[in-house]
Amino acid sequence: MLQDKLNWRYATKKFDAARKVPQDKLDAILKAVQLAPTSSGLQPFEVILVESPELRTQIREAGFDQPQLTEASHLLVFAAWDNYTAERIDAVVDEIVAQRGGGRDAVGPYYERLKGMYLPRTAEENYQHAARQAYIAFGLALTAAAFEGVDATPMEGFDPAKVDEILGLRARGLRAVTLMPIGYRDAEGDWLAGLKKVRKPMNELVRAA
Ligand SMILES: Cc1cc2nc3c(=O)[nH]c(=O)nc-3n(C[C@H](O)[C@H](O)[C@H](O)COP(=O)(O)O)c2cc1C
Repeated sequence: MLQDKLNWRYATKKFDAARKVPQDKLDAILKAVQLAPTSSGLQPFEVILVESPELRTQIREAGFDQPQLTEASHLLVFAAWDNYTAERIDAVVDEIVAQRGGGRDAVGPYYERLKGMYLPRTAEENYQHAARQAYIAFGLALTAAAFEGVDATPMEGFDPAKVDEILGLRARGLRAVTLMPIGYRDAEGDWLAGLKKVRKPMNELVRAA
């Protein structure tokens, strides 16, 4: 049951640095990112898979020295578009037309209206919108990791400007939104493992209108 997996997962503080996540499980987590719904299907983000120990050491420095950043098996960086542009939106339309056929008439007008809404906005507003889409994929990746029995830490405790610089993201029109180390918990070394999960009661979380 999904609920059991969600109870099992927790924001892992200490990973077993010796254990690697197998490729098929990594692929399953990334597939959930690919399948995440996004506003107008723009998928305005990328996931950067950081393998290099040197880069991960630098990211740990930019991440308040959180050990998971170097000790986990893999590090995923969720990076959103820094802005919406006509080119980026056109590329989405091109892809829909290429994959579904039928010409631009079916979807083109919708995306022209979208450009009319998004392009006059500031880059910051558009980035914030894109980042919210990245969070949906981030949540699904966390869920997929739990489903696969892989531990993960959702993280926004880092200096995004520094991570952008370390990974050269701004030059690619991207900005770091969240980090997700994945791997396997070191239950004995982790102060949080085994502590009760604390959540609001349902009657405070869900209210009748
Ligand atoms: C967006 C987001 C950012 C977070 N940032 C961090 C972080 O930088 N470091 C960390 O150890 N935990 C981080 N957490 C973990 C939360 O503290 C944790 O999810 C919350 O307390 C609930 O506990 P649980 O995930 O163990 O059930 C973050 C969680 C989310 C969703």
